[in-house]
Amino acid sequence: MSKKRYLVTAALPYANGPLHIGHLAGAYLPADIFVRYLRLMGKDVVFVCGSDEHGAAITVKARKEDTTPQAVVDKYHAMLRDTFQKIGISFDIYHRTTEAIHHQTSQDFFRKLNGKNEFLEETTEQYYDDTVDQFLADRYIVGTCPVCANPDAYGDQCEKCGSALSPNDLISPRSMLSGSVPVKRPTKHWFLRLDQHEAWLREWINTGITDGKQLHNPANWKNHVIGQCNSWLDQGLQPRAMTRDLDWGVDVPQEIPGSAGKKLYVWLDAPIGYISATKQWALDNGKDWEPYWKSDDTALVHFIGKDNIVFHCLIFPAILKAHGGFILPENVPANQFLNLEGRKLSTSKNWAVWVHEYCEEFAGQEDVLRFNMIKKMPEQSDSEFTWKGFQETNNNELVNNLANFVNRVLVLSKKYYNGVVPRINAELSFKSGWDIDKTGQYNEELRLLHNKLQEMGAAIERYELREALRILMEISSAGNALLQFNEPWKTVKDEPEMVKVVMNLAIQYVAVLSVAARPFLPFAADRLRQMLNLTALQDNGDLLEVLNELVEGNPVVPPLHALNEPEHLFSRIPDEVIEKQIAKLTMSAEVPADPDVADNASKSNRNNELKTMNEQAPDSTEPIPMVYRPVSENIQFDDFAKLDLRTGTILSAEKMAKSKKLLKLSVDLGFESRTILSGIAEYFTPEQVIGQQVVIVANLAPRVMMGIESQGMILMAEDAEGKLSFVSSGNGWPNGMGVK
Ligand code: MF3
Ligand code: ZN
Repeated sequence: MSKKRYLVTAALPYANGPLHIGHLAGAYLPADIFVRYLRLMGKDVVFVCGSDEHGAAITVKARKEDTTPQAVVDKYHAMLRDTFQKIGISFDIYHRTTEAIHHQTSQDFFRKLNGKNEFLEETTEQYYDDTVDQFLADRYIVGTCPVCANPDAYGDQCEKCGSALSPNDLISPRSMLSGSVPVKRPTKHWFLRLDQHEAWLREWINTGITDGKQLHNPANWKNHVIGQCNSWLDQGLQPRAMTRDLDWGVDVPQEIPGSAGKKLYVWLDAPIGYISATKQWALDNGKDWEPYWKSDDTALVHFIGKDNIVFHCLIFPAILKAHGGFILPENVPANQFLNLEGRKLSTSKNWAVWVHEYCEEFAGQEDVLRFNMIKKMPEQSDSEFTWKGFQETNNNELVNNLANFVNRVLVLSKKYYNGVVPRINAELSFKSGWDIDKTGQYNEELRLLHNKLQEMGAAIERYELREALRILMEISSAGNALLQFNEPWKTVKDEPEMVKVVMNLAIQYVAVLSVAARPFLPFAADRLRQMLNLTALQDNGDLLEVLNELVEGNPVVPPLHALNEPEHLFSRIPDEVIEKQIAKLTMSAEVPADPDVADNASKSNRNNELKTMNEQAPDSTEPIPMVYRPVSENIQFDDFAKLDLRTGTILSAEKMAKSKKLLKLSVDLGFESRTILSGIAEYFTPEQVIGQQVVIVANLAPRVMMGIESQGMILMAEDAEGKLSFVSSGNGWPNGMGVK
């Protein structure tokens, strides 16, 4: 921690979908903990992120959603930004790569590299789709995987066997845009001569030295990060195309001959997004961005998932060095992957816990997810999240250990001292919370607390966040032990002076936790400050101040300070809540929620239709499994509140002439009766529905069908085969009641 300032980045997520817990555990949460800790230590730190809004990831999604790339990035950028905020990721700026300042910055990089002859201009043959007149991005070419024979492998990767591919590897390639067989056409691109950067990159990664300067200590880098870099380096770095034939992205600067129709490769522009974000932050805050990127006394730290290692450890450093004047990352503490309930997280199979949904369903419990993610953080190897584990962690650690300790201290202080921190005689001894066999002394105990906090900080500085959290919880456990072994509730009558010392010390523990928990549990830390009636944290050296007091054996809350009312910090999560989540996960995963995946599935099913019917006809004695429709995209409460649902009774029903589907109903709403046309004639006879109690959408704009105005809609439940049943108000309720 010797650097003067820090520039911390978290991988720019593609703005093509919502955030799941794998993203959170991989990059954003570790970055946030690190940054919050630095702020508490009074360091000068800027934390940047933003949406990655270019590349095939975006255009593919736009095709899937049948909309424009701009609409896709607008939608998901807003969603990502809000989700990060809700789960407490404290970026100093959350930017986007479609901003003009980013286009300029990345074009300037391209110009600079071009001017320094860092590129080879080369014409190669690339797949082209004649029917739509465009070159095909790797993602737009599908064909048979040469490794596993999957017929739907992409030009860059086979999702079945995981092999990295290039379009030329595919057997019988076809265009995803039109289905036609693509042809090869020559096209010119700019290739970064990575081969010329291989030697210094190898030295820099493995020794931390470049240009004779020791920039970092490789012993502080994770083994799996260095390992992955070396395996790339050992295969030999090849020149890599930094441009693409696309219509969405940053333009190759106009004045460069041959630039027409060419865009920057997304992995060239995206990491430069860290720089543009810093520039924008500086503009917004009246600061200078340059020292953060150009000064040797800045530590640049990239938090990413392991699939981004090569880009952050080899390609982007090569770009920075080729440009000149920029520092290189001091560390790239990449995490491995988080699995979910025994399976790989998968967006396309909807096997995920979506953070925005969590924040809605568990509002006020954001820290519980954070805590779990940290406990399960895939720091050195892949790890696993389970809902059962989530519940146990909450109930056993957050509730039974932390919340329980805090509650005991505040409740007892209120009872014994009316919530006022007692004055003490520090020389009295008691049983120590750290080691029950030892007898503690007040000032000595505070120094022990100092040491624990220092250990915790050192773990964060080593990027060992699971370990840091363990130490934090050890402080809470020691606090509980302090109470448990001194039993103030038994001794308060006979030894009131000693109990004052124990309670005063316990209050110091809680106060220390209110600061130390902030990197991990920012919302709980705020609530603790409030309960203790201490000033809100300034994120500017608060922990440093605490350390400075404790190392002298001084308390951090003075005697006679008045505490606020105790509140519950965390509460138990019951079985039902967990069962509901597990059911939701398995239910929505049966049928892929991603419409395009469903499409693809039905496409390949079509080819297999005959085979399926002959070979896999379901045994008629088997119950047909329930098929669940995936839950639709969330709506806001306000959207829901616009619906006016009412109870009613069907008074009369008749078939509509010339319509197979429609019944004309007259429905009594108590205050009026409505004519409603309902598409249920294939399932119900008029006789069957007369007298039926129903729920209707009463404020649906009227619609004329077959010459008759329908004045509402009847709610029906539909099963997998399309069979309908009435959603009944049941219990003989009067007509016209609101349903909410
Ligand atoms: N969007 C990329 C991904 O999700 C990450 C980009 S990181 C950056 O894998 F450095 F390029 F910004
Ligand atoms: Zn394959």
